[in-house]
Amino acid sequence: MPFIGSGNIGRARLAVDAGLDVVLSNSRGPETLADIVAELGEAARAATPAKAAQAADLVVVSLPFHARDKLPADALAGTTVIDTMHYFPERDGRIEDLEEWRTTSSELLQRHLSGSHVVKTLGNMDFLRLYSSARPSGHPERGALPVTSNDAKAKAKVVQLVDTLGYDALDVGSLADSWRHEAGTPINVLPYVGEPPKSMTQEQAHEWMFNGPSAVISADRVKELTGQATQTGRVGLYLEDLFPVGR
Ligand SMILES: NC(=O)c1ccc[n+]([C@@H]2O[C@H](COP(=O)([O-])OP(=O)(O)OC[C@H]3O[C@@H](n4cnc5c(N)ncnc54)[C@H](OP(=O)(O)O)[C@@H]3O)[C@@H](O)[C@H]2O)c1
Repeated sequence: MPFIGSGNIGRARLAVDAGLDVVLSNSRGPETLADIVAELGEAARAATPAKAAQAADLVVVSLPFHARDKLPADALAGTTVIDTMHYFPERDGRIEDLEEWRTTSSELLQRHLSGSHVVKTLGNMDFLRLYSSARPSGHPERGALPVTSNDAKAKAKVVQLVDTLGYDALDVGSLADSWRHEAGTPINVLPYVGEPPKSMTQEQAHEWMFNGPSAVISADRVKELTGQATQTGRVGLYLEDLFPVGR
C-alpha cells in the first residue's frame, strides 16, 4: 500500500503489522526514508510521491493539509485515496470556504484529485493510539472509525482495508458530511484517550497524550459522537482545544 506523507500517521507500521507491503514517500526524497524503511523490514520500500501513487490503486495521503495541492493528481488518477488529513488553521493558513462551512477539507482534496475517489478515514485518532488500539475482527476491545466518501465502491474498499488494519468502520456519509469527523469535533482524538484529569498543566497534557490510557470507541459511539458535531464555534483544530489544560 502506498503512502504519500510518511510522518507520524504515514509511517505505515500498522499496515506492515497487518501483513501489507508498503511504499513510503515524502517531500524530501526516498533516500531520507532509509531508516524508516529499514525499521519496517522487507515489506517496505521508498519512492517518490508520483511513483508511490502508481504502486497500487489504494493510496494513503497524510500530509499537512496546506500541502494537498502538491499531491500528484495525474499519477493518482484512477486510484482510491485515503485522506487522513485535517485542517489546522494555525498550521495550514485560514481557508475562508472552510471557516464559513461552505465546503469540507476532503471536498477540497477531491477537487484537486478530480480523477481519484477520496475517502476520509484513519484521521480522527492520535497516531499512537491508532497503532496501539488496533484489534482483530471480533476482539472484545475492537473499536470503530468513521468513514466518508462520495463513491460507494471506494468506500467499500476502504472499509475492508480498515477491517484488515484492526478497526470496524462506520459509514458517516459523503465528503460533504466529512466535517463531522474533522479535527476539533467530538469524535476527534479526545474520546479515544480516556477521561483526562479535570485539570492539567501543558506538560501533564503532553504526558497524557503520549503515555495516557486508551478508550475503545464502538461503532454506536462513533454514530453518537459524529451526530453531536455542530457547525458552530471555530473550525479545525487549535492545539489549545485538544486537551483541557487548566480546566
Ligand atoms: N499526528 C496525528 O496524530 C494525526 C492524527 C490524525 C490526523 N492527522 C493528520 O494527518 C496528516 C499528517 O499528520 P502527521 O502527524 O503524520 O504529519 P507529519 O508527521 O508532519 O508528517 C507529514 C509528512 O508529509 C510529508 N510531506 C509534506 N509535504 C509533502 C509533499 N508536498 N509531498 C509529499 N510528502 C509531503 C512530510 O515529508 P517531509 O518531511 O519530507 O516534508 C512528512 O512525511 C495531517 O494533515 C494531520 O493533521 C495527524
